[in-house]
Amino acid sequence: MATIPPPVYYPPFNITRVSHAKITVRDLERSLAFYTRVLGLVVSEREGDEVWLRGNEEVGHHSLILRRSDEPPLCEYIGLRVLTELELEKAEAHFRSIGLAPEWVERRGQGRTLFLRDPFGMPMEFCARMDLMPRHTITTDHFPGAAALRFDHVQVHSADIPAACAFYTGLGFRTSDYLVGGPDDTLIGVFMHRKDTPWDIVFMPGAGPRLHHFAYVTPSVQDMMKACDAAGIHRFGHLVERGPGRHNQGHVQYTYFRDPDGHRVEIIPEPPHQMLDIEQMPVRWDEAKRKATMDWGYPPPQCWYDDASRFAGVEPRPGMVVPGRISLEQYLAQRAAE
Ligand SMILES: [Fe+2]
Repeated sequence: MATIPPPVYYPPFNITRVSHAKITVRDLERSLAFYTRVLGLVVSEREGDEVWLRGNEEVGHHSLILRRSDEPPLCEYIGLRVLTELELEKAEAHFRSIGLAPEWVERRGQGRTLFLRDPFGMPMEFCARMDLMPRHTITTDHFPGAAALRFDHVQVHSADIPAACAFYTGLGFRTSDYLVGGPDDTLIGVFMHRKDTPWDIVFMPGAGPRLHHFAYVTPSVQDMMKACDAAGIHRFGHLVERGPGRHNQGHVQYTYFRDPDGHRVEIIPEPPHQMLDIEQMPVRWDEAKRKATMDWGYPPPQCWYDDASRFAGVEPRPGMVVPGRISLEQYLAQRAAE
């Protein structure tokens, strides 16, 4: 029977949350139009081939960086915050002690930054501070698209879910929910967090590591619908990939978009519940439990299962095939045959 490791309440250093990502795009103007008009992100800074964007309530310099490139689109890294810069020193010592190779890097708008690849090759960086920017929610009444408030989480395709879960548990991530399935009761997904919501990083099965999506919180369900309308108005309507709908785990509503380069971004309203107290144990979701939940909406299209952004500098390893997973295409074919 699949199990997950016990939580580590006193990790080697203090990560506070997953906070940002950097992706490459082929047409900067088109991507900028998507992220400012559909997501409603705010431009903090622009120079040359790069743009730094933030959510409307974020005071940090950026939560998304776009870099124009003629190469196939990819994610250069995901970013995490630690509580103070002292934690970065502890992080460096910890990662060296387990055989990883952290290095100090310079980043626009950030304090000291430590970059490394996790044991699976995923590029990631840690910082404690960013340059301060005005909180847009109290300086304007103009909020296009989803009026996205803040970066919430990333979901990563993983070729080895138990190993990913073990590594990130060791860094202090706690599991809010996990999925099991198949005749062998295999672990097929983990939802992990450091901040007080159910998610910071989610691992689901697939060729990996690859970035399945990053997610922003929007003020309301109505703002999520406004993003769909903005997509239609600005000729991005075909990029609404899945939803609106409601997930079972966590019960949050969602809409998934593909950006003009195929990077996937999810919009969710405010997370449904707080995760903080230690008596909140991970929730196990097997087939029987999943059928008894309040999720609604069509199954995902096959591309939602298969497609993900490659990370820079790492070749994905094949992932497991999840038993019993049904795509929208299969669902519609079954209905047509009835
Ligand atoms: Fe998500």
